[in-house]
Parts: sequence; structure tokens; C-alpha cells
Amino acid sequence: MPDDLQFDSLASPGVEFRKIDTDTDIMHTLGHYLYKARKAVAALFVSSIFPYRQSRTTDQSWERDYSTGHWDYLHTLQQAARYQVIAGYCQHFAPGGSILDVGCGDGHLQELLASAGYSRYLGVDLSTEAIQRAESRCDDRTEFRQIAVDDFETEERFDVIVFNEILYYLEAPMEVLERFGAFLTPEGIFVASIHSARSWNRRLWKMIAGRYRALDEVEVSHGSGKFWIIKVLTPKERSHES
Ligand SMILES: C[S@@+](CC[C@H](N)C(=O)[O-])C[C@H]1O[C@@H](n2cnc3c(N)ncnc32)[C@H](O)[C@@H]1O
Repeated sequence: MPDDLQFDSLASPGVEFRKIDTDTDIMHTLGHYLYKARKAVAALFVSSIFPYRQSRTTDQSWERDYSTGHWDYLHTLQQAARYQVIAGYCQHFAPGGSILDVGCGDGHLQELLASAGYSRYLGVDLSTEAIQRAESRCDDRTEFRQIAVDDFETEERFDVIVFNEILYYLEAPMEVLERFGAFLTPEGIFVASIHSARSWNRRLWKMIAGRYRALDEVEVSHGSGKFWIIKVLTPKERSHES
């Protein structure tokens, strides 16, 4: 096509012709994908050689974040699919069963689980503010308790223990999983959700894979670019026993 070809005479309101340099455009797109590939390789490298590091927070920062409404976005449409997957797993693996929700926040998951039905729901969280928000929904099957993971003890056994976006805030997540394994019924399962933005979180999945078998897993990816991996886990030693 000759360089000086003019389309201007065809232009009308709402119709525009623009000359583009195809070579420059392709180089630009290629550059973009190369940049993304380099970032992914770097993240993979970091997560495979450095030890796990928790997301740093403090008890005060959780309280502040709940009272300023920072975590309200967890109730938005952007997050909805992730919660539905977790609720779906609970329903599938333990219909009408008992659920322990570790780091339950203001109990958003409980609202979804309640419509499907459960025999018992216990939500535990470090934040007083979060638990206060949830407490109005307590009934004879539903309880919320303000307590840190490390202090939690119980004689109860649960069909499902949910770790919904909490494991990477813990200093020793593997020890916590090990300890909470004792609170599972003989056929009980863990459901864990971990968002994938940090390379340390990918490292965490590798550590988990060393000791737990994934009975199922789903990746939830939102159009905004956020994505999460949700897995149903069972201890590997249990699969050897059966
Ligand atoms: C990202 S929020 C997720 C909340 C909820 N699971 C959800 O997805 O709606 C993480 C939650 O973990 C809680 N948390 C963090 N460290 C904790 C600990 N050591 N013991 C108990 N809860 C903790 C926080 O208070 C917060 O509510």
C-alpha cells in the first residue's frame, strides 16, 4: 500500500482512519510479553531458592483494617467466585457436615455456607472487630470465637477445616496444618485458598505438596488480574494407610 494513500476523505463523525506502523506495533507487543515472561521466570526462581516468608502484619493492623473497612472488598463481586468454590467444596465433600473456618474474618464464608446447611460451623479469628461483626449470626449451630491460631485448642472434630487466605500470614503454616490435622474427623479434609500474587505463596504450595495430597484443585482468575488457587487437601500418610 503506498505510504501516501489518504483516507481522510472517507472520514465522518465517529469514523476515523489511522496509519499504524505494523513493525513497531509487533515489536511493542513482543516486548510486553517478553517483560511478562521475564517477571514470571524471576518469580519462579525466587520462590524455588529462598525459604518461605510470611506476609507481615500485626494484631493492631488487623483491627485497624477491619475498623476502617479495608476488608469490605472481600464482599465484592470480584471475590465472589473464590468464595463459591470454597463453599462448593464444603458441600461436595461434607454435605451438611461440620466446618471449622480458621481466620474467618467477619464470617463472609459462613453466610454462603448457611444457605447450603451445616451441622456445625465454628469461625475463629484474631481480630476482635471482625468477630464482633460476625457475632449477630451466631445460633445453636453457629459460633464465632476471637482467638489466635496458635492458642486454639478443641476437643471437637470437623469434617472440613477451611484456611481461606490465612496461611501465608502465619509464621509457621506447616506446623499449624500439622496441629489442626488432629481436629479433623477420620475422613476430614482441609480446604485452602491462597492468592497467587506473591512468589512466597507459590513456595508455600510447594511445601504443602510435600505433605498433603490434593484431592482436587481449582484456579480462580478474575478479569482484574487477580487469581487464587484453591485446593482440597488430605494428609499423604492417610492415603498410605487406606
Ligand atoms: C485476608 S483475611 C481473610 C478473611 C477470611 N478468611 C475471608 O477470606 O473472608 C485474613 C484473616 O486472618 C486473620 N488472621 C491473621 N493471622 C491470624 C492468626 N494468627 N490467628 C487467627 N486469625 C488470624 C485476620 O484477622 C484476617 O481476618
